[in-house]
Amino acid sequence: MNITNICCIGAGYVGGPTMAVIAEKCPNIKITVVDLNETRIANWNDEDVNNIPIYEPGLNEIVARTRGKNLFFSTDVDKAIDESQLIFISVNTPTKTYGTGKGMAADLKHIELCARQIAKVAKNNKIVVEKSTLPVRTAEALKSILDNTGNGVQFQILSNPEFLAEGTAIQDLLNPDRVLIGGETSPEGQKAIEALVDVYANWVPRERILKTNVWSSELSKLTANAFLAQRVSSINAMSELCEKTEANINEVAKAIGMDSRIGSKFLKASVGFGGSCFQKDILNLVYISKAFGLNEVADYWEQVIIMNDHQKRRFSKNIVQTLYNTVSGKKITFLGWAFKKDTNDTRESAAIYVADDLINEQAYIALFDPKVSQKQVLSDLDYLETRTASENEKHITSYENPYEACKNAHAVAILTEWDEFKDYDWQKIYDSMLKPAFVFDGRNLLDAEKMKSIGFVYQSIGS
Ligand code: UDX
Ligand code: ADP
Repeated sequence: MNITNICCIGAGYVGGPTMAVIAEKCPNIKITVVDLNETRIANWNDEDVNNIPIYEPGLNEIVARTRGKNLFFSTDVDKAIDESQLIFISVNTPTKTYGTGKGMAADLKHIELCARQIAKVAKNNKIVVEKSTLPVRTAEALKSILDNTGNGVQFQILSNPEFLAEGTAIQDLLNPDRVLIGGETSPEGQKAIEALVDVYANWVPRERILKTNVWSSELSKLTANAFLAQRVSSINAMSELCEKTEANINEVAKAIGMDSRIGSKFLKASVGFGGSCFQKDILNLVYISKAFGLNEVADYWEQVIIMNDHQKRRFSKNIVQTLYNTVSGKKITFLGWAFKKDTNDTRESAAIYVADDLINEQAYIALFDPKVSQKQVLSDLDYLETRTASENEKHITSYENPYEACKNAHAVAILTEWDEFKDYDWQKIYDSMLKPAFVFDGRNLLDAEKMKSIGFVYQSIGS
């Protein structure tokens, strides 16, 4: 089957960049990305590509080249489903906030709605591809909904999890370590797999395209994220031990990373991991393990989250303790709010939890992030429901200029590793702050010796 028309449901951090790259690499395929959120679609269609809703290095250039040619953004979900041969489902699957599995299981209501809509609209056979991270055996539920439409349309369900990391999404998509496609072992299933392989083979070497059964594919995605998050929690656990001894976590990370069995990536100690995937996927893994009665497996993975929560909490606790056991009425400046550099995504960012703790201690937070708006910051804090929206508004203020944000502050805390923070005039910042001037570097971003020679009381993670 030669794919010439693709629909992607969900114009978010996964759907948007992924479809932009497929459009760029497959000029003969028409791609329509649809979403229920009208504002989001309007932003994707903004004449000025700098206003698209997702910040990702290199994305706006690709959108500028492909939009209106073979890449389209629309709210007309039914029409896009009807016209397509292959449908990617890239809608969000947040952790459930209600009912059974609350706080643990993935909420699949958006996925189910998509399946029902596809079932209602489709008039001819389609390949439906799970792109969102999903609990193992979701494909089964999708199939059951789609196969019971009674209108004779045949659906093939594939699992094709996305491994891109935000901030490097375009590079990850252009040059993936591997593409994973899971499908049924039946001849029809194999034909569907081959159709999707042919799409990726336009730019990905075929030996890097792995074919598995659906369940292996679904579980591989959860496993990859669990392993990556576990490395961060492991290095963060060692960072606390380093702080109690004369060891330095950067030196330890380098020493162990040179062991080719361990490898050097994902060993950067930090204030804690964030992002839409790690916590959600591990909670999900814990939930399904428990559901199968595998309590030891569940407890093992849950510890990765417990360690991460501890790392965030001890960062805020240390700020309070160091500032003479009180931050009440003090100005603390946050540099960074996004969960990592080079993205405007703030989901589960450590900054949110550190801010919440410090506001509980009555601190006033001044914030500068190159890509995150005040509106987003307030919405993140309000979501925690710790206090009223007006109290949050009183305690946190975003600045357009980092130097203004730091003026008269008791302390600066670095929450995101934006490159530009390294190049700031730190002498100028020091001169404008109250003394002693404290810097809490939650990303081990700055040069400790240089900061100390300026006069800062400088603390980083794990030394
Ligand atoms: C992750 C996976 O990497 C990706 O494959 C999957 O598709 C989605 O989830 P993402 O959440 O975008 O990607 O970012 P990632 O680079 O994995 O970072 C996650 C968090 O861990 C960030 O908060 C980051 O700052 C933190 N981190 C990462 C560390 O604290 N130390 C490290 O060494 C690496
Ligand atoms: P991700 O990081 O997984 O891409 P996002 O939240 O950034 O998650 O994007 C998911 C998108 O899916 C949102 O823009 C949301 O409006 C959209 N969406 C959710 N449910 C549906 C649905 N039933 N039909 C169309 N779009 C949907």
